[in-house]
Amino acid sequence: MKVNLTSSSRLSQVDFSNLPFGKTFSDHMLVAYYKGGAWQEPEIMPYGPLPHTPAMHALHYGQAVFEGMKAYNDVSGEKVWLFRPEENYHRLNKSAERLCIPSVPKEVFFEGLKKLIEIDRAWIPRAEGHSLYIRPFLFASSEYIMATPADEYCFVILTSPTASYYSGSVKLKVETHFTRAAKGGTGAAKAAGNYAASFYPMSLAREEGYMQLLWTDGKDHKFLEEVGTMNLFFRKGDQLFTPPTSDSILSGITRKSVLELLPKIGIEAKVEPIHIQDFQAGLEDGSITEVFGVGTAAVVSPVDTVGIEGKNYKVEVKEDGHWKKLKTALTDIQFGRSEDEFGWRFPLI
Ligand SMILES: Cc1ncc(COP(=O)(O)O)c(C=O)c1O
Repeated sequence: MKVNLTSSSRLSQVDFSNLPFGKTFSDHMLVAYYKGGAWQEPEIMPYGPLPHTPAMHALHYGQAVFEGMKAYNDVSGEKVWLFRPEENYHRLNKSAERLCIPSVPKEVFFEGLKKLIEIDRAWIPRAEGHSLYIRPFLFASSEYIMATPADEYCFVILTSPTASYYSGSVKLKVETHFTRAAKGGTGAAKAAGNYAASFYPMSLAREEGYMQLLWTDGKDHKFLEEVGTMNLFFRKGDQLFTPPTSDSILSGITRKSVLELLPKIGIEAKVEPIHIQDFQAGLEDGSITEVFGVGTAAVVSPVDTVGIEGKNYKVEVKEDGHWKKLKTALTDIQFGRSEDEFGWRFPLI
């Protein structure tokens, strides 16, 4: 791996007490190109523009996939952990396969990540709950406009210091007109185009005062799928419920971890298809007492309002709710505050 270090670090210019999500980038990035049927030697270089032309294939045909993960400073301040990065690696290549993009070799991903974070270690925030967001992505970089898979690709890893992401509880609209992902489509892939297609319905929901959309199935809009960049859970009685993943839902690593963790903290969970009518009835009669989303960025995000076909249902956000127990259990593992009995922490440094 080639390493080209910056001669002027931007670290001292960063206000670590004010880190809006995804706007500050560390000094370096990893870049690797796929050309002539093979991955070329990766390079760590100063963060900055890449030399691509307006004919770059990804801009025209959307052959682009990405991942989202975090590096955490251990509470002792000596170690740096990742959380289940093998899962992100596999999901990146699964997404790539769906978009006809060649897979990234394991050593490029893991050695690149390790070296990059060693170099920019000082960019991992130290404040409680803060972390370094990691954005690996992969896009078609061929210079031609023709609607066929490209023959050149670029893999990049950016890192971005981030505050603990908690912007209060969420006002959710159940989307029953627009579709995020259809059966047989690309919903299970972390494809850039899935997000582009969600922005218009999302902007309409924002105009109505909602913050996120809860997507329903693309065929009849009858079954609940997922929330923005999170998977959905709700509580009925003492049990939690979540829809099964499918080819139209992104299989979240946080969701998977929550389902493995719940029995350990004495909470039962059921994975089953959830009909919008049953969900609405539970909100109406008050038997649904918690609704929340889970994902890498926010970890666990409670919902205080659910809008269905113009009717708003309030959900009380209790500080001692299941959502909070889960958030504490997950972040304790991520920051090295508790035993890692599942082997989820990955020592990077
Ligand atoms: C569409 C979508 N669903 C769910 C998730 C949650 O996945 P994870 O827990 O792996 O972050 C994300 C975030 O990556 C997402 O973008």
